[in-house]
Amino acid sequence: MRNCRVGLVGAGGVAQRHARVLAGFDDVELVGVTDVAPEAASALAAQHGGRACADVAELLATELDAVYVCVPPFAHGPAEEAVIEAGVPMFVEKPVAVDLSTAERIADLVARRGLRTAVGHHWRYLSVLDQARDLLGDRPVRMVSGAWLDKVPPVAWWSRRDRSGGPVVEQAAHVLDLIRVLAGEVTEVTSYGNGTPPPVDGADIDSVTTAALRFADGAVGTLSAACVLGWKHRAGLEILADGLALAITEDGLSIRDADGERHLPADPEAARVAVDRAFVDAVRGIGDDVRVPYAEALATQRLALAVADSARTGTTVRLATATAPTVLATGVTVDA
Ligand SMILES: NC(=O)c1ccc[n+]([C@@H]2O[C@H](COP(=O)([O-])OP(=O)(O)OC[C@H]3O[C@@H](n4cnc5c(N)ncnc54)[C@H](O)[C@@H]3O)[C@@H](O)[C@H]2O)c1
Repeated sequence: MRNCRVGLVGAGGVAQRHARVLAGFDDVELVGVTDVAPEAASALAAQHGGRACADVAELLATELDAVYVCVPPFAHGPAEEAVIEAGVPMFVEKPVAVDLSTAERIADLVARRGLRTAVGHHWRYLSVLDQARDLLGDRPVRMVSGAWLDKVPPVAWWSRRDRSGGPVVEQAAHVLDLIRVLAGEVTEVTSYGNGTPPPVDGADIDSVTTAALRFADGAVGTLSAACVLGWKHRAGLEILADGLALAITEDGLSIRDADGERHLPADPEAARVAVDRAFVDAVRGIGDDVRVPYAEALATQRLALAVADSARTGTTVRLATATAPTVLATGVTVDA
């Protein structure tokens, strides 16, 4: 079987990480990379192999088996459309878009084409996720507290709402995705932002956001995002069930129950490798462990945007399963 020929759209921070991981697989060949900043594409190609291409069309002309789309949130859409049109399996970095309409349009095109996809929610590959699921067993989740408390990342687009979607969409989406896995779907969101951007040129995002979440299965929870610190303080979630407290971060799972307290470590780097390995194996037809195809990421995107929209509009947002969220005036109830 020939090597899996991979191309990259975007050559920034996360593309470099994927390139490094993929270059470590002996059945993968990095064939090309394109970036709107040609020097970024050239630098990545020089370091990890392949050639710098002028645009997505030139990249797709290199007979690829898979494409990674690693662009900032605002830039999603055109690259995916071209890749889908070419019928090439596609890995897309999260968040899949800055808005919902782009994500829904791409999801629809993916479904029509029956294309193999994966999205970079690598927390789904944390080794401790299975233990968390086993411990919960059939106990209903009662309460969830998710948080991403961090600094402003050093990329210019991040602090602009129309570029990144804001901290909840751009960053806390990892936590929201795991919340969906362990506590089920959220049906209603009421969020508050502080209306004060972080002290960064051009910033228009809230520097802190807190959301109250109501879940389909009866649990309630919160999600908080902050970018007011100079360091990554904490990113993860706590889950309470009857007689059980779990705390999950990229570094591991802390458990407290009738047997006392214990901690199971996890390796975040292993999860970052696993998400790429699973996609490549699926593309090669030797594995079937893609945990977040595009359609699944769309559900996380809906939830993240519901949190962001509620804070922006000062309304409660209800999420109906399998349909777009309905924005309600606070206090108004509408039959589902
Ligand atoms: N899954 C993860 O753990 C993880 C980690 C880091 C970043 N990310 C996500 O990856 C995305 C990119 O983040 P980053 O840190 O690499 O950003 P970055 O700014 O470092 O890199 C983005 C690159 O995309 C290029 N680009 C912009 N528009 C483009 C277009 N239309 N076509 C081709 N290239 C284009 C830019 O020139 C830049 O080189 C973000 O959505 C971020 O949330 C995910």
